[in-house]
Amino acid sequence: AQEPVIFSGIQPTGVPHLGNYLGALREWVKLQDEAKPGTKLLFSIVDLHALTVPQDAAQLRKWRREAFATLLAVGLDPSRSTVFYQSEVPAHAELMWILSTVASMGYLSRMTQWKSKLQLPEDTTLEQADARAQLRLGLFSYPVLQAADILVHRATHVPVGEDQRQHLEFSRYTANSFNHLYGPIFPIPEAHISPAKRVMSLKEPTSKMSKSHADEKSRIILTDSPSVIQKKIKVALTDSQPNITYDPAQRPGVSNLIEILSHFEGQSCQEIAASFDGASLRALKEHVASRITHHLTDIRERYVSIMDDKTGYLDSIAQQGAAAAQANASVTMRKVRDAMGL
Ligand code: ADP
Ligand code: NA
Repeated sequence: AQEPVIFSGIQPTGVPHLGNYLGALREWVKLQDEAKPGTKLLFSIVDLHALTVPQDAAQLRKWRREAFATLLAVGLDPSRSTVFYQSEVPAHAELMWILSTVASMGYLSRMTQWKSKLQLPEDTTLEQADARAQLRLGLFSYPVLQAADILVHRATHVPVGEDQRQHLEFSRYTANSFNHLYGPIFPIPEAHISPAKRVMSLKEPTSKMSKSHADEKSRIILTDSPSVIQKKIKVALTDSQPNITYDPAQRPGVSNLIEILSHFEGQSCQEIAASFDGASLRALKEHVASRITHHLTDIRERYVSIMDDKTGYLDSIAQQGAAAAQANASVTMRKVRDAMGL
């Protein structure tokens, strides 16, 4: 039987935010802590994906380190999980080329991610996007790189947020296409969708909290101090209705705060709304800020000590991680090359 292999990744485009934490990182740590012996766990800082939009080199270098330190700070343990920078394992890019020889152009063009990254309307055609916004090949084809990230490690389980479901479907489809042509090389990966609802932007609660959102007050990042957390929650966009009710369609701002609280309290949103019946919005906000602060304190302290370390700790973990990931990937690449006549 196939050994379980868990793989996931995060882009180094800023210190991870509360949405990344609740939708992904917290789940990764839980999977690690509950994994049966023999389960392989790999988590990658997917820096090649960050290049799908222009990046400043010094900024990217800083963000990569920050993302790596955050993964360790939230509780990924290098003795159990392989944590690595994607670009340090060339097999990811190599397999991307190979998969691009079987990946469907039609499928890729029907996906929506390139439109949302370019902030184009849903009905934009490929030709329109190319003319208006200079759609680059990498932005169009990065789901193929995502497929390679997953398949090169023979991943069986991919923990991601709901927003990534479409991409995982593409990876499964591409794995099947390859297997059909060349034999059963790749296990078909299963999505492990986080039970957490998407965390929404604090400023625009109808869109998801995201690193790429310009307004920094739209997200809580994992290294925010208690006073910054308090300020951001205080100015979070809500509404002027007097009482507290859970109603994501009509009251997205208040409901987002209730959802965030429910992730920390382990209570349903309805229970939380009921417990705040008659309370003020201010009381709800104070409670949310205090719960977030409480939960992030240890993470922030570990993050600071990793970033302040002068013994080369982070770099040595990154080196070990890259070596382990390369070794795992090379097993796949031998099979792929052999099956294809390379
Ligand atoms: P971002 O969208 O902020 O650039 P990434 O694309 O690097 O973040 O996503 C890393 C992980 O975090 C993915 O598994 C994704 O599903 C999850 N994620 C991102 N934003 C949110 C959010 N607002 N709520 C829940 N999960 C999220
Ligand atoms: Na995302």
